[in-house]
Amino acid sequence: MKAIEIRNKYLRFFEKNNHKIIPSASLIPENDPSVLFTTAGMQPLVPYLLGEKHPEGTRLTDYQKCLRTVDIDEVGDNRHLTYFEMLGNWSLGDYFKEESIKMSFEFLTKELNIPVEKLSVTCFKGDDDAVRDEESAEQWRKAGIPDDKIYFFGKDDNWWIAGEEGPCGPDTEIFYDTGKEKCSESCNPSCDCGKYVEIWNNVFMEYFKNSDGTYSKLKQKNVDTGLGLERMAMLLQGKKTPFETELFSKVMEELEKMQKNDIISSRRIVAEHLRASMMIIQDGGRPSNTDRGYILRRLIRRMTRHINKLGIDLNELPKLIDISVESLKEMYPELTENKEIIKNVIIEEKNKFIRTLQNGEKEFEKAVNIAIKNNQKVIPVDVVFNLYETYGFPQEMTEELAKEHNIEVDVKDFDKLFKEHQEKSRMANENKFKGGLAEQNEMTIKYHTATHLLHKALQIVLGEHATQKGSNITSERLRFDFSNPQKVTPEELKKVEEIVNEQIQRGLEVTCEEMTLEEAKNSGAMGLFENKYGNSVKVYTIGDFSKEICGGPHVKNTSELGTFKIKKEEASSAGVRRIKAVLL
Ligand code: SER
Repeated sequence: MKAIEIRNKYLRFFEKNNHKIIPSASLIPENDPSVLFTTAGMQPLVPYLLGEKHPEGTRLTDYQKCLRTVDIDEVGDNRHLTYFEMLGNWSLGDYFKEESIKMSFEFLTKELNIPVEKLSVTCFKGDDDAVRDEESAEQWRKAGIPDDKIYFFGKDDNWWIAGEEGPCGPDTEIFYDTGKEKCSESCNPSCDCGKYVEIWNNVFMEYFKNSDGTYSKLKQKNVDTGLGLERMAMLLQGKKTPFETELFSKVMEELEKMQKNDIISSRRIVAEHLRASMMIIQDGGRPSNTDRGYILRRLIRRMTRHINKLGIDLNELPKLIDISVESLKEMYPELTENKEIIKNVIIEEKNKFIRTLQNGEKEFEKAVNIAIKNNQKVIPVDVVFNLYETYGFPQEMTEELAKEHNIEVDVKDFDKLFKEHQEKSRMANENKFKGGLAEQNEMTIKYHTATHLLHKALQIVLGEHATQKGSNITSERLRFDFSNPQKVTPEELKKVEEIVNEQIQRGLEVTCEEMTLEEAKNSGAMGLFENKYGNSVKVYTIGDFSKEICGGPHVKNTSELGTFKIKKEEASSAGVRRIKAVLL
C-alpha cells in the first residue's frame, strides 16, 4: 500500500468515527519561537489540549508534517529520518482509553489488514505520579492481544511529553513484529535490535508537568495519537527501509545510476536531506546562520557533500529535485507549484558552499595529516573554527568528516571562539557606523526612515523571507538589498510603493527605545544585524507599522518624507535583489 493510500484510509476511518479532518499546520510553528520546527501532531493543538475550545469540535484527525533534528547525524542508517509525516487523531476531553484502543486496533487489523499475531503493545507500569495502566492493558486483552504480548514499562518508555514542561501522560505503544529472530532471551519491544518496530503511540494526556517537575491534572482527559507514515508504508510494503518505498526509491535509483562510488549511507543522506530541505523551503524556511535557517543550511550542505562523495556532478541537483518532487507530488501538490523557488534556494546555497568546499576539505586533510604526524588523535578547536569561519563548514560537519577519518575533534571551546569572533565583527561594524554618521544630513536621515518602511513593505508583499541583505544611502537615493529568489514583478513593486506612501501619508510617529537584545527580540523587532550590536540596542518603532533594531537616526514623523518612488529593481547576487528608490 502506498503512503498516500495509508494516509487517506486513516483520515477516512477517523472521519467515519466522527472526527473532523483538520489541515496539517506549517512545519515552521506560527507564533512559537520556542521550537524550531513542528515535531509532533499535537504541537499545534496544545492550547486545545489545555482546555481551549477547538472550532472543529472535540474529535480531530490530520496528517502533520514534522521535522525532528535530534537524530540528524544518524540519518544514513536504515531507519532514521529528519522529516516525517505523522498521522494523528485526538480526543479533546471526549473519548478516552477504551474507545481509542478499540479504534486503533480496528484500523490496524481491519483497514490495514495487519494480522493480530504481528502486534505487541506496551503500557505504563505505574509510579508515584500515576497508577499502573491496567485499564489500557484490559482493553488490549479484550481486543485479542494475548498477555505475553502486553508489556509494562516505566516513564522512560511509556510516558509522553514534548520537552520538559506541558501536557503529558502515560501512553500505550503498538509494535509490529518484523519476524526477525529475538536478539536475546529478554528481547522485547523496548529493544532496539529491529525485531519490533513501533508503529503507533496513543498518549492519554490527563496531566500537566510543571516547570518544578511536579504534575497537575489537566481540566480534561485527552487522547493524542501519532502514527509514523513512512514506517507504516515500509512495513506494509514488506521493505526493510523507508528508502525503498515510493517516497524515496526513484531518487535512490537515480543516485545509484549517477554515482561513481557506491556508498549507500550517502545515497540515503542525499535522498533524506533533499526531501527535508524541500519541505522546509516549501513552508518558508531559508538558509541562514541561526536557528531554523542553520538547520536548513546544515541539511543542504551535508547533502551537497555526500553528492560529492558519491562522485556525482553537482549540476545534477536540479534533476534530483525534479525526481523527488515527482515522487512526492501526490502527497504534497504544493511542491510542484513551488518547485522553482525550491530549486533556486537549494542551488544558491549549494553554490555558496561548493566555492569553498574543496578548499575546506583540503584544509581538513592537512589538519588530519599534521595530527597523525604528531601522533595526536584530536584536531584542535582553532582548526574547527577556521573551517567554519573561512570555509562555511558547520561544526557538526567537521565532526562527521573527522569520524570518517577515525579522528576526534576538540569542540569544547568552539562557542567561546564564536563569541569572540562576533565581538570583533561587532566592533568593526561600530567603527563603520561611526564613519557613516559623519555623512548624515537631513536627506540621508529621511532615506534611513524610508528604508525601514520599504523593508517592512517588502515583507508584507513578498513574504518574511524578504529580509535585508544590505543597505546604502546617499543624499540622492536609497539602495536596498534583500533576499528573494526571483525578480520582483512590476505589480509587486507598485504594491510596495503604495504601502510605503500610505505610511508616509498616515503621518506615523517615529520613536526610539533602548533595551537589551533579548528584550528587542521578544518585542518582535526585526533584528537583522544582531551580531553587529552590543548588548544594549536601540529599537526604532514607526507607528504600528514597523519595529527594527537600528542605530538611527531617523525623522520624527513619516509625514516629513514626501513621496516615495522606486526607480529600479535588479539582481544583486544569487537570490538577492536590489531596489533603488528616491524621495520626491
Ligand atoms: N505525541 C505523541 C508522539 O509524538 C503521539 O502523537 O509520539
